[in-house]
Amino acid sequence: MKKIIPLVILLMGFGSIIFFSSCNKTGTVQAPGSVTKQSFGTLPGAPEVNLYTLVNHSGITLKVTNYGCRITSLLLPDKNGKCADVVLGFDSLAGYLSNNPYFGAVVGRYGNRIAKGKFEIDGNQYTLAQNNGVNHLHGGLKGFDKVVWTAEDFTTANSVGLKLHYLSKDGEEGYPGNLNIEVTYTLTDDNQLIIAYKATSDKATPINLTQHSYFNLAGAGDIKAHELMIASSKYTVVDSTLIPTGELRDVKGTPYDFTTVKAIGKDLIATGGIPIGYDHNFMLNTKGLSDLAVRVVEPVSGRTMEVYTDQPGVQFYTSNFLDGTITGKYGRVYTQYSALCLETQHFPDSPNHPAFPTAILKPGETYLTTTIFKFSAK
Ligand code: GLA
Repeated sequence: MKKIIPLVILLMGFGSIIFFSSCNKTGTVQAPGSVTKQSFGTLPGAPEVNLYTLVNHSGITLKVTNYGCRITSLLLPDKNGKCADVVLGFDSLAGYLSNNPYFGAVVGRYGNRIAKGKFEIDGNQYTLAQNNGVNHLHGGLKGFDKVVWTAEDFTTANSVGLKLHYLSKDGEEGYPGNLNIEVTYTLTDDNQLIIAYKATSDKATPINLTQHSYFNLAGAGDIKAHELMIASSKYTVVDSTLIPTGELRDVKGTPYDFTTVKAIGKDLIATGGIPIGYDHNFMLNTKGLSDLAVRVVEPVSGRTMEVYTDQPGVQFYTSNFLDGTITGKYGRVYTQYSALCLETQHFPDSPNHPAFPTAILKPGETYLTTTIFKFSAK
């Protein structure tokens, strides 16, 4: 008995090293249940830019930088324990500085579009940058994806995490109010990535924070064979500039019906649009965090991602705007449909649509929202 116990412990330790190593492309061995920090470059006048590596006890490695609160890498085992990096991104800060598709970022102050960059609160008119044709997109010229957050890592008995903070000053990018924001990434040992957002403001302001990771659960190729379910029976119809017309249309009989599982490529062309593909907000049928909002399965690797959220909608985007001009990690050229985004959120342009759920945060209130990405492989 005495001899067996140390042997079992040794084997368990050895097993976890093998499993862990199989999901570590960097060659550096980091203990499960730990967070490490390394420099990711410098930006004039800004706090230090670092890259944090979070490793849980179940074979997942997540990398996050405090530049734009961005997830730069997510290493996930497949059904046979084989590892792949399932998010698009760059190896260096320079990549993020010179390219602008919001890879892995938290976008805001208002994620998605505000028509012509204009809105009104309590009779006051506000004008924001028109940085997407005539519209305002993802917080403007220097949104939260392009600022340096302060960050503090933590570990608990069954999770590893990073808490990030940013103060967006009154008038920044044209938005009203000093907005104090905290975003917490928690990677649990049961393979949930919990993203908790908290904010307060001293003036009424629109707020719509979301996570803009581009996922490809195969780690290569395109996402047309990924199988998708979205618990949504209506989507917001948009005009040619992707601003909602106000109509909530039934998905039944349209390419937007993912109420039963369907390969993303099946009706992709039928979506039309320029460029062709999904870039739509789906109104969720779910009633909160405990209801499954979205499930994506990559059939070959078996990697599965489930999304749970308390937000009213999700923007499903098939990276239609990637056109082969960006080369990312591992020398991979990013083209249309290389990845998919599931941006849990309030409906686009809601400040100009009184019928949509309100995204206005008032002084004295606290903005609190959570989205969970849950990973498995079968
Ligand atoms: C969101 C938008 C898209 C596009 C991407 C970033 O998903 O809805 O239209 O702007 O962000 O390129």
